[in-house]
Parts: sequence; C-alpha cells; structure tokens
Amino acid sequence: MNQVDYLRISLIDRCNFRCQYCMPEGTELDFIAPDNCLSAEELLTLLQAVFIPLGFSRFRLTGGEPLLRPDVVELVRAIACLPQVEDLSMTTNGFLLSRLAPDLYNAGLRRVNISLDSLDPQIFRQVVGGRSDRWTQVWAGIQAAHAVGFDPLKLNVVVIPGVNEHEVLDLAALSIERQWHIRFIEFMPIGNAGLFGERGWVPSEELRQQIRDRWGLTASQVQGNGPADVFQIPGAKGTIGFISQMSECFCDRCNRMRLSADGWLRPCLLNETGQLDLKTSLRSGVPLPELRNQVQHLLMLKPEINYKGRESGTAGASYTRTMSQIGG
Ligand code: GTP
Ligand code: 5AD
Ligand code: SF4
Repeated sequence: MNQVDYLRISLIDRCNFRCQYCMPEGTELDFIAPDNCLSAEELLTLLQAVFIPLGFSRFRLTGGEPLLRPDVVELVRAIACLPQVEDLSMTTNGFLLSRLAPDLYNAGLRRVNISLDSLDPQIFRQVVGGRSDRWTQVWAGIQAAHAVGFDPLKLNVVVIPGVNEHEVLDLAALSIERQWHIRFIEFMPIGNAGLFGERGWVPSEELRQQIRDRWGLTASQVQGNGPADVFQIPGAKGTIGFISQMSECFCDRCNRMRLSADGWLRPCLLNETGQLDLKTSLRSGVPLPELRNQVQHLLMLKPEINYKGRESGTAGASYTRTMSQIGG
C-alpha cells in the first residue's frame, strides 16, 4: 500500500482567471465566505497536531489561485519552517508571480507548478478569459520564478481539442533548452462538462507519438512521486510529463489527500465518499487527538475509497465540485 504523506491544501477557492475548463466566465459559483475559510492559525494547528503526526511531510498549496490569499507569504514561511516538512510546493496560474516570486522564495517555497495552456497570447486569452495582456504577465511570472531559482519548475498544459492541441510540439520544445518540466494534462469533465462534451480530450499516447515522430522520446530516469509519467526528448535539459487520468487510472498509486479552503478533507479527487469537515470540528472544540483519530481512520479507508476506474480511466467518476473548489 502506498504511504499517503502528501496533502494538497487549497488556500482559497477564488481565482482571478476564468479558465474555460475550470470556471468559465458566466458560471455562478458559490464562493466560500472569508470567515468560512480556515485561518492561517487553524491550518497550522491542523498541520502540527493532525497531519504531521500521521506522517504527512509533503504539502502543496493550491486554490482557486493561492496567490490571492492575502497572507500567502506568511503562510508559506510558517509551513516551510516546520521541521517535519520535507517538501512545500505551490500550483498557481502565475499571474501574480512576477511580483511575489522573490518573497515566496525567501519565505521558504522551493518549487512551483504554473499553468501555461498556450504560447499564443490570443489563444491564452481565449482559454483563461479577461484582458489580452494576461499571457505577457504570466510569462513574466514564469521568468521571475526561474530567475529566483524555483526548481523544479513545472508548466501545466491542459490539452483541449481544437483550442491548443496544435501547440503541443511548440510547448514540448520549451523543455529542450530550459530545465523546465512541461506536463500535458488530459482534459477531465470537472468544472465545465459542457466544453468537455463538445471538445472531448486527447489521449496522452497521441501526444507522445507526435513528439516521438519529431524528436524521439525516452522515459526519463527520474520519475516524480505524482501522477505524471515523465519522458525526455533526447539531449533536452528539461522533461515532458503526461498526466493521463482519463486514459489510465493511476489511483492505485495515489499518495495524497486534499484539504479544501473551508476545511473539508477529501480522500480522493474523483470520489466524494468519506469527506471530513475538519473546520467545523475544530471550531466546535473537538479535541485534536480525536480529530487525529478520525483522519487516521480515513487514511485506513482510503484504498477502498480511491476511485476504481482502472480499466476505463476516470470517465464516470463523481464530480460535483469544480477543480477550483477542490484545489486541482
Ligand atoms: P507534483 O507531482 O508534486 O509536482 O504535483 P502534481 O503534478 O500532482 O500537481 P499539480 O497541482 O501541478 O497537478 C497537475 C494535474 O494533476 C492537475 O490537473 C491535477 O488535477 C492532476 N492531479 C493531481 N493529483 C491528482 C490525483 O490524485 N488524481 C487525479 N486524477 N489527478 C490528479
Ligand atoms: N481537467 C484537467 N485539468 C484541469 N485543471 C483544472 N481543471 C481541469 C480539468 N477540467 C488543472 C489546471 C491546473 C491544475 C491544478 O489543474 O490547469 O494546472
Ligand atoms: Fe483559476 Fe486554476 Fe481554475 Fe484556471 S484552473 S480558473 S487558474 S483555479
């Protein structure tokens, strides 16, 4: 059985982007009121008294967009200095990164995953919504992250047929000269099921074939601990990862749980069974050892709860919350 030692922490469910595949413009989302979000103090209490004693040592901060949380730098500092924390990372859309990268690095963050769905500013705008300068701002954020030394630096591309599929080779080429990790993610029917129904998704193997035909592609010596299968263009400085949750279910190697901004602990992205409302328990005075027991019990149940779509990938899983609410 996999050791579950990785917690994805959503700091906020709001976002300054409106990605088509996540929370497209015009969707009505019931955002969590700030009072209902876990405070920094509550979050640190849960980490120190519940998760760390149960063996969690790797933490990823997500959103919505985590950099919208006003206390994000202080939170990073407080988590990074806990002695048991072996890995602290963040998934961000990169829009605020050119300003915040140095502070985040100085506070102890060492790696970031940034979404970059297109190299074309017009297509990018079509994907993320809003003003036309967004691509330039995100690209500046990526450069700033590179300049301050975040390593590894991972770029996430959700591949949408007819939107950015034709850019796969250009995006893959970014890994040749730079020590970056480009990851192609199969589009999942979470968030915008309408777009998914209209466009569908591209199996990772088709993308690998395109890249193989152009440059060749070999399995990388270094595989991560996450859901990506990692490859490399021969001689490239960086790598290319494929997150293939539609075509192959990797749930049986799952090592993670998710904590939403309002304190729900979710054992599986794709199955809503077993969630625990840690915020309400904490605020109503349930003793911390009792909370720890509840989470330990959930850890024991997790292999049964993990989504069981091994044959068919994740088609058919249960998605009533969007990625921005779950934290990706
Ligand atoms: P590291 O490997 O630690 O760098 O993180 P990661 O790749 O898991 O993090 P990131 O936030 O960049 O996630 C990239 C994509 O992987 C997102 O689309 C996630 O939804 C997807 N993903 C991450 N964890 C899981 C998981 O447990 N199950 C499924 N099905 N998808 C996941
Ligand atoms: N399908 C696949 N990936 C998605 N993400 C958000 N929504 C979807 C979806 N419907 C990705 C984002 C980000 C990560 C946290 O999740 O692009 O990189
Ligand atoms: Fe925001 Fe991320 Fe969702 Fe895009 S995928 S709308 S950046 S939370």
